[in-house]
Parts: sequence; structure tokens; C-alpha cells
Amino acid sequence: MSGEHRVLLIISGGIAAYKALEAIRRLRERGVAVRAIMTRGAQEFVTPLAVGALTGEKVFTELFDREDEQDVGHVRLAREAALVVVAPATADIMAKMAGGHADDLATAVLLATRSPILVAPAMNPAMWAHPATQRNVAMLAEDGVRFIGPRRGEMAEAGEAGFGRMAEPLEIVAAALDLIAAPVAEGGGRLLASRHAVVTSGPTVEAVDPVRYLANRSSGKQGHAIAAALAAEGAAVTLVSGPVTISDPPGVRVVHVESARDMLAAVEEALPADVAVMAAAVADWRPAKASRGKIKKDGSGKVEPLQLVENPDILATIGRHRTLRPTLLIGFAAETSDLIRNARAKLKAKGADWILANDVSEGSGVMGGDDNTVSLISATGVEAWPRMTKVEVATRLAERIAEALAGQSEAAE
Ligand code: C5P
Repeated sequence: MSGEHRVLLIISGGIAAYKALEAIRRLRERGVAVRAIMTRGAQEFVTPLAVGALTGEKVFTELFDREDEQDVGHVRLAREAALVVVAPATADIMAKMAGGHADDLATAVLLATRSPILVAPAMNPAMWAHPATQRNVAMLAEDGVRFIGPRRGEMAEAGEAGFGRMAEPLEIVAAALDLIAAPVAEGGGRLLASRHAVVTSGPTVEAVDPVRYLANRSSGKQGHAIAAALAAEGAAVTLVSGPVTISDPPGVRVVHVESARDMLAAVEEALPADVAVMAAAVADWRPAKASRGKIKKDGSGKVEPLQLVENPDILATIGRHRTLRPTLLIGFAAETSDLIRNARAKLKAKGADWILANDVSEGSGVMGGDDNTVSLISATGVEAWPRMTKVEVATRLAERIAEALAGQSEAAE
């Protein structure tokens, strides 16, 4: 079985589970090795014995199976697959995937894998149409999960028609073969394969003393979404993040820092890069000297005024680098007035190629919120994007970055 592509097929509970047998047979006919995991629900419809007879391998069912964990283990199962296929996928397993659950072998593998995931949903039409399912599907699609089906048709339950029937085994096999075709290994034909991106995100915190600091309200949502979107397009991404409460995006190397000076050092260490997106809200000033001990009240009711000194400007510093300046350097301008004029000035002052200007005035809901309204400002003009989610801004920006880098490579040839 060595040398050939291996599909990890996750069979979840549903009457369509019997069609998974046909999919295994078809994949194997085409020289693809198949390993199967069955959820408890799936075993109500087909037996591990039947599935194992077709895969020619042991079928995996338990997360904490002493023998399996020593021998193969969920991480190895996840890693050894060129592609993970979930067929049939119930509403429940998709909800768990969207929520990042890992309470059985199937969901643990889905969370641990870095391989592409193909999902073939199968459920009753009312369950498919439910807003909760649709929300989960949208979220998974945003995470890069691919879907095949469901199709419209008569369901096994009498009288139920509508979308919910699982795609046919041969359709699933064709979609799977597309995904494991050679380009997947080289970045999946993705727009930014073999590019290196550096992204800054979140606030910086500047120590006053061991317990106090100066900070700002940046959540890191926009910068983290950009790092994730660039990674989804195949870029190797280094995310330099100040302290945030959101989690590290999957598939991204994250360097955690606190102060502006640490952030600059981490960015410089991460260079060279094809593109750098500076989305962090870097503190402009820091206390001139951080007290070693906690500053105490002296009883007089007076406090020493805080002396502030300017922090290095990371974007401008990178913009001036002779050798290490990224091919494409992008900054943000969070403004409360005169958005475009200020952003244009910033483009020049910082030596950036593009500035994404966003209005963070009170009432815009941008700071900490999920939406953003940005304009992309470059030497050639201003492009106003409609209001969209921060994830959508990130996806669009990743596409624009890919176009720009592809254009530059062509020009250089
Ligand atoms: O000057 P202003 O803070 O508005 O500029 C915003 C842009 O500059 C952002 O891209 C931000 O990440 C970057 N910046 C920086 N270092 C600073 C201040 C801002 O990289 N010290």
C-alpha cells in the first residue's frame, strides 16, 4: 500500500452509510488505499466487519482503545491521510466539526488533520435546511472544508423530498480524486503555495510595572483572520501576535509577544517574506522605564506622572529595509476622521504598498466586532469595499495579494 494515496473515510450514522461501501470499492478500484473510521451511529447501519472486508484494513472505532492508541493513534490516523472524507456526514458531526469538538475518534481526527477534508452530507431535508446546519456548513466552508452534495431527491423516509440525499458514491469518488490529484501535495493549486507571509495582529502591551501595563482595545480578529486566509491559500504564515483572547489559527506558525519592541524583533526574525500584513494595533508610546517592583501608593495622594517615549514603528521600519523589505507591504490605518486623506499620507510616510483604511469611530462597531468596512489605498487609487465580516475582508485581501504577487512574478520573468 506504500506510495499510493490514502483516503481516510469517516462514516457517520445514517441510512446512507451503506453507500459508503460502494465508495470504498470504487476508490480501491482506482488504486487508492482506504482506511475507515466508523462512529457509533454508523455501526447501527453497517458493520465494521463489512467495511473492513472492503478496505482490507482494520476499521477504527474507538478514541481510547489501548491497542490502537499505541499502534496507530488518532494523530497518526490524521497525519497519514492525503485526504479525509466524511461520508455520510450527519448534521451532528458537522455541528461538532464546526464547534471543534473532539469527543470521539472521528471528531478528534477531524480536528487533528492538516489534510484537505471532503464532506458528503446526508440527512432529512428539514435538518439540512435548518439555520443551525446552514450556519455550520458556512463556517466549515470558511475553514476550507469542501462539500459534495447533498442532492435533491426522495429520502429513505417515505414522503420526504428536498435537499438532503447524499451525493452518489461515484460523485464522491470523483471529488476525492480531484482533491488528492498531484497539486494537493504541492499546495493544492492554491493561490499562495510556496509564498511566505508575515502578519502582525492584536494589541501590544507596554509594561508600567510588573502588574500594570498600557494597552488598547484590539481583539486581533482581523489580523488572525488574515493569517488564516493566507494559510488557506497555501502560504506559509508567521503570525506575530500580541496578547489576545482568541485562539491561534490552525496551520499557522504563531509567535506570541507582548511589547512593540518584541513584536518588531519577531517580525525581523521572520523575514524575508513575500508579503507582510501589519494588522496589529501597536502602542505608539511606552512608559520611559518600566518599574522593576510594583509602584506603591506613598500615602501623600500624589503619583509620579508617567513619562512616555515613542515606540518603534514596525511598519515604517520594515518599509525602509533595503534587503529584507517584503515584496508587498501592507498596513492598516484605523482612523476616526478624514479616513482616505490620512491613509494616503500613511502610505507614503510608512513606505507601504497598500493601506487598508478602516473607520473605527464610535458607533462603527469595528473594534472588537465581527464586521469591518475598509478601503484599499494604493499608489494607483482607492478601492472602497462594502461592509463585510472580518473573515470576508481577509479572504478578499488574500485573493488580492495572490493576484499582486502573481503579477509581479510575471513581470519579473
Ligand atoms: O500610525 P498608525 O498607528 O495609524 O499606523 C497604523 C499602521 O502602522 C498599522 O498597519 C500598524 O500595524 C502599523 N504600526 C506599526 N508600528 C507602530 C504603529 C503602527 O507597525 N508603532
